[in-house]
Amino acid sequence: MLKKIILLGMMGSGKTTIGKALSKKIQLDFYDTDQIIEKECKLKIKRIFEKYGEQYFRKKEEKITLKILSYNKSSVISLGGGAFLNKKIQKQILKKTVSIWLKPNFKTIYDRCKKSNRRPLIKNNCDLKLDLKKLIKERYPFYSKANLTITLNKTPKFISMNIIKRLKKIINL
Ligand code: S3P
Repeated sequence: MLKKIILLGMMGSGKTTIGKALSKKIQLDFYDTDQIIEKECKLKIKRIFEKYGEQYFRKKEEKITLKILSYNKSSVISLGGGAFLNKKIQKQILKKTVSIWLKPNFKTIYDRCKKSNRRPLIKNNCDLKLDLKKLIKERYPFYSKANLTITLNKTPKFISMNIIKRLKKIINL
């Protein structure tokens, strides 16, 4: 059976790190949509936003994510934080994958975003707390459509093991 496991959630929720650890444990291919966009554009996401704007990035994100979702291959796929808000992407994910919302607490998200300088939606002079809260308010209703929600604030290894335990109850791993 084809297994596509999607990790979604806010920036700083650990999608890439946990996706990598999980894919290794269950021996599936791993795709990270942001990394593929960067490779294809030969630019970091931050530069893509600066040079071409967010709309351009969102179009690329849609194209690349839909392409990966169409592969006839089992895999673990980590999305960028905004990808699941795209209607076409969301429809495909809800139709043919097992989706997992990584939902650490606000402090974890805030601390990780504060440390990072590679995220274009986080401006140096912004009120990070306020901006994240706004994004959360807008996005959580979408993220909550995922099949599983993981609210642990633990290590990637621990979270991967917990995901596997929960996945085993709903699919053949
Ligand atoms: C975005 C999150 C980023 C990246 C881009 C936009 C968002 O990915 O796709 O900067 O809209 O939340 P991460 O969630 O991996 O940081």
